Amino acid sequence: MAQNHAAPATKGADIPPVAVRAGIELQINGENYRHTGDPQMPLLWYLRDVLRLDGTKYGGEHGEGGADLVLVDGKATSAIGVTMDKLSGKQVTTVEGLVTVKGELHPLQQAFIDEDAIGCGYCTPGWLIASMDLLNRRKDPSDSDIDTLPNLCRCGCQTRVRSAIKRAAASMKQGAKA
Ligand code: FES
Repeated sequence: MAQNHAAPATKGADIPPVAVRAGIELQINGENYRHTGDPQMPLLWYLRDVLRLDGTKYGGEHGEGGADLVLVDGKATSAIGVTMDKLSGKQVTTVEGLVTVKGELHPLQQAFIDEDAIGCGYCTPGWLIASMDLLNRRKDPSDSDIDTLPNLCRCGCQTRVRSAIKRAAASMKQGAKA
């Protein structure tokens, strides 16, 4: 004899409502943003996939080579290594934010061009950000200061990057006097 199976009781009523996320407010390149998605989202994916700021590159799950560096409150920080919930109230600067409001290149960007310190360009945003951090701490960086930067360049531009950072330091000192 065929058995009647009762329809499984719906569990819908037992599912607690999902709390509305408060949102994480932060500044990126001087603009205000409110992130209401996954608080565990790495900053790198927020920049690249949500905001379409794709200057910051993926350099491995541990940020090897520094291609994913951004400034967080002025300090070079791995964008893959920091999640959105750690950024409430912070100021983030990406490579796109180095250009002046008038659209002029930062002296550091110009120095990389002048010293031909760019090969394929994949590592360049990370170098620029790490160099900004360094120049904020050391107005006249030595070779050994530059060698402490975590960045790698697979195109072999390290020597020209050194020259570019020194050129930028000189240019920024000159600009500060003017
Ligand atoms: S310019 Fe190609 S990896 Fe550095």
